[in-house]
Amino acid sequence: MRGTLTLTWILMVCLSQVAVQSQYYSESLPYDPRPVKVTNLYFFLHETLRGKNPTVVMVAQANNTSNDNYSSVPFGTLYAIDDPLKIGPGDNSEVIGNALGLGILSGKNSTTVVMYLDFGFTAGKFKGSSISIFSRNPLIKMERELSVVGGRGEFRMAEGYARLKNYFFDGTTVIIEYNVTVIHY
Ligand SMILES: *[C@@H]1O[C@H](CO)[C@@H](O)[C@H](O)[C@H]1NC(C)=O
Ligand SMILES: *[C@@H]1O[C@H](CO)[C@@H](O)[C@H](O)[C@H]1NC(C)=O
Ligand SMILES: *[C@@H]1O[C@H](CO)[C@@H](O)[C@H](O)[C@H]1NC(C)=O
Ligand SMILES: *[C@@H]1O[C@H](CO)[C@@H](O)[C@H](O)[C@H]1NC(C)=O
Ligand SMILES: *[C@@H]1O[C@H](CO)[C@@H](O)[C@H](O)[C@H]1NC(C)=O
Repeated sequence: MRGTLTLTWILMVCLSQVAVQSQYYSESLPYDPRPVKVTNLYFFLHETLRGKNPTVVMVAQANNTSNDNYSSVPFGTLYAIDDPLKIGPGDNSEVIGNALGLGILSGKNSTTVVMYLDFGFTAGKFKGSSISIFSRNPLIKMERELSVVGGRGEFRMAEGYARLKNYFFDGTTVIIEYNVTVIHY
């Protein structure tokens, strides 16, 4: 009983505090007086497609009945991704982060994956920060551009673009060069 009374009293206090607010909006201020910065990130994404420790696994696939004659990859296949990011293309190169997320093969007539990835950094100045990439990725092209749509930590409110180049592919391992231009505060 006493508990109920206390709760009622707390609720009443909260309600009265809410009632004090007479507007639903704040004053509009300049967004951020700090200058906008641009940072260039250069690293290599290492992906292992098969074997004992793949960094990409299929999580779902459409029960397609018709054959897709043009695409070399099955349309409607969803993958979970956890790819290490390294400072260089070498296997023993220092790991500086990882790309976590999903890739869906969504080109009906092209080898295109749409990627929803969070590139998190675990070393250096941007340790603990990440950039969000959401973009189509036409795998068949040697060079391609992905959009950076946001970020966390040092990269909060980031935008930018990533330029990708295929560096190595042998059917099991894929190494991709990333040159990312990030605009952030
Ligand atoms: C997949 O499609 C085939 C052909 O339409 C059908 O016979 C089969 O039951 C489907 N399988 C599932 C798991 O839906
Ligand atoms: C869907 O089609 C692709 C070929 O385009 C094939 O590799 C794959 O096994 C098919 N998936 C199913 C579930 O039928
Ligand atoms: C794919 O190729 C087969 C065999 O050549 C053909 O019968 C079929 O119509 C083609 N499908 C499409 C979607 O073009
Ligand atoms: C698919 O791509 C092939 C090869 O580029 C082209 O010949 C064909 O017309 C395309 N089909 C559709 C439906 O866009
Ligand atoms: C990455 O891109 C920037 C901006 O376009 C360019 O200045 C730089 O030379 C590139 N870095 C490498 C290693 O290609």
